[in-house]
Amino acid sequence: MFTRSSFAALLAAAPAILAAPAPQLTQDPSASFGLDSQVSYQPQSTAGPDYPVVVLENGYTSATYHGPYTGTPTTTGAVNGPTTLAASIPILPPNPTATYYNAEGVPQQAFPAPYTPKGGLGTNGTQPRYMVESDFDFESIALGLYQEWIELDLFHDGLARFTTEEFEAAGLTAEYLSLIEFMADQESGHATLLTNMLGQAAPKECVYDYPYSTVREWLDFMQRVTRFGESGVWGFINHLDSREVAQLLAQSIATEARQQMIFRQMSGLTPMDVWFENGWPQSWGWSMLSQYISYCPENQTRLAWQNFPTLHILNNANINRYSPNDTAQDGSETVGSRIADPSVSNITSGSCENLNVTGYGCGPSVAHNKSEPLSFPGKQVLFEWDAPGLAVGPNNSYVTSTSAGAPAFVAWSQQLNLTYTPLTVTGNNSGYTFQPEGFVYGNDGIINGTMAVLLTDTDLFVTPFNVSMINPHVVAIGLYQAG
Ligand SMILES: *[C@@H]1O[C@H](CO)[C@@H](O)[C@H](O)[C@H]1NC(C)=O
Ligand SMILES: *[C@@H]1O[C@H](CO)[C@@H](O)[C@H](O)[C@H]1NC(C)=O
Ligand SMILES: *[C@@H]1O[C@H](CO)[C@@H](O)[C@H](O)[C@H]1NC(C)=O
Ligand SMILES: *[C@@H]1O[C@H](CO)[C@@H](O)[C@H](O)[C@H]1NC(C)=O
Ligand SMILES: *[C@@H]1O[C@H](CO)[C@@H](O)[C@H](O)[C@H]1NC(C)=O
Ligand SMILES: *[C@@H]1O[C@H](CO)[C@@H](O)[C@H](O)[C@H]1NC(C)=O
Ligand SMILES: *[C@@H]1O[C@H](CO)[C@@H](O)[C@H](O)[C@H]1NC(C)=O
Ligand SMILES: *[C@@H]1O[C@H](CO)[C@@H](O)[C@H](O)[C@H]1NC(C)=O
Ligand SMILES: *[C@@H]1O[C@H](CO)[C@@H](O)[C@H](O)[C@H]1NC(C)=O
Ligand SMILES: *[C@@H]1O[C@H](CO)[C@@H](O)[C@H](O)[C@H]1NC(C)=O
Ligand SMILES: *[C@@H]1O[C@H](CO)[C@@H](O)[C@H](O)[C@H]1NC(C)=O
Repeated sequence: MFTRSSFAALLAAAPAILAAPAPQLTQDPSASFGLDSQVSYQPQSTAGPDYPVVVLENGYTSATYHGPYTGTPTTTGAVNGPTTLAASIPILPPNPTATYYNAEGVPQQAFPAPYTPKGGLGTNGTQPRYMVESDFDFESIALGLYQEWIELDLFHDGLARFTTEEFEAAGLTAEYLSLIEFMADQESGHATLLTNMLGQAAPKECVYDYPYSTVREWLDFMQRVTRFGESGVWGFINHLDSREVAQLLAQSIATEARQQMIFRQMSGLTPMDVWFENGWPQSWGWSMLSQYISYCPENQTRLAWQNFPTLHILNNANINRYSPNDTAQDGSETVGSRIADPSVSNITSGSCENLNVTGYGCGPSVAHNKSEPLSFPGKQVLFEWDAPGLAVGPNNSYVTSTSAGAPAFVAWSQQLNLTYTPLTVTGNNSGYTFQPEGFVYGNDGIINGTMAVLLTDTDLFVTPFNVSMINPHVVAIGLYQAG
């Protein structure tokens, strides 16, 4: 029998998050690898008139509020530097020092010590300092911390929200639930680590507004949230100034990657259908994540990243269908209109949920084959997109924006490639394209899994280490369900 007694004890003991004192911080966590102050799970209790009390099923009696923001923002827009120097980053030739080539395969230079080939960063004996080293680092790790906080709340929320019967009906046994609880607990460690690497201005936990109403929609939402969490970190980790911070972040994102795959398995998806997990610029992840944050505490540290308008994929495959191409064409099989909203699970016919047929069933499983794919090369993909200028994110205090011209291309970002197809415009904010075919190496199809798609005004050539150069050309961003 699944028990959440430890979780319940935590809840009983936890103070209201918004009234909670900041976590105790170490000034320089290097001595302890940033792990000495503990941030435990602190669900939001009632905090004033904007926080209605919601008593959930299942004996979970905390006054946690999950829902939309209903107030008036007191501040708007991304945080800025003292000044902004140019409209975009200029394109430069390769760095003059990027020339090393070793045709012989033997070391070229003197070893600084035995068994120690020359080179590397942080290899010359300097003491590590596990703190962010630039505005880029701060804003990136702060974004990562916003992500860890929502995961901490999200994984716990479903465990508390649904009944044992509902879990069992969705094929989740007590052992599966224990695993999810373990993953939720991992998030408290990740939040602690990132908090310590930022210092006293680290963002705090917020209040969230979730799209799901069934166990399957919760699982599906989690495989999407962990997708942008994982890819959002791969996109910046190798650009960080602090190699020390990157080291610790890599050790946390390695578990995030496992979480993503486990939620895919629990959702009945193919666990892995790509050879490479790709990286996204920070503004892509923030555009998705921010839509699910409704309130943040007073004086919350704000972020510098852009919020792009939403690209609605009207016929995004419903993962709960055994013939996913039967998904409605009008957007009605996505539970809402936010970027990472899950597929509607309570469809009246065509569900694969309780189908015990190889290639068609989609109950929780280590592996599934899709005899009818979620999507396929040549699929006509129907889009609508929002105009910029919408209030989004914490306290509705960020505003969607774009600096791009008229949309002309669809960018498909997955694996090692960013591929474009032409957009056929059918209205002021609607159009379509066809899913392309393309391969990385061998028969490894580029377009697969849960992936970002963007409308752009040009087909700029970018590669995994300079993909953020595309941001000034992005009209809108969406999350595509391929496979
Ligand atoms: C050691 O390496 C770092 C880069 O990792 C460099 O900034 C620093 O100047 C080097 N220190 C010495 C003493 O060579
Ligand atoms: C968000 O709104 C709540 C409720 O009005 C308020 O307590 C909080 O200070 C606001 N947060 C920010 C960052 O403005
Ligand atoms: C927010 O900042 C103001 C101004 O610095 C300060 O007076 C107030 O106590 C802060 N509130 C919280 C909850 O930290
Ligand atoms: C997929 O569905 C669309 C829309 O109903 C249809 O036009 C198309 O023929 C279908 N394609 C396949 C391969 O079943
Ligand atoms: C599916 O669930 C949603 C949300 O609970 C509800 O509005 C809708 O009527 C349900 N649809 C069916 C076919 O049961
Ligand atoms: C699924 O079908 C297989 C083969 O017919 C059978 O052995 C297995 O028990 C079935 N599983 C469930 C959960 O019904
Ligand atoms: C699973 O799919 C692969 C191709 O993707 C196929 O070779 C294999 O036979 C399938 N296995 C089953 C059990 O359907
Ligand atoms: C596009 O916008 C213009 C100006 O707002 C409007 O007159 C026109 O009807 C719109 N066209 C479509 C297809 O919505
Ligand atoms: C995708 O990227 C890989 C690695 O750079 C390259 O070999 C391949 O040709 C690319 N595929 C396409 C269709 O661009
Ligand atoms: C996606 O991955 C699955 C699992 O490896 C594979 O069967 C399928 O053919 C892939 N789809 C494309 C379009 O490459
Ligand atoms: C991105 O990098 C590739 C080399 O990998 C280069 O060819 C391309 O021009 C760069 N794109 C931009 C916009 O700088």
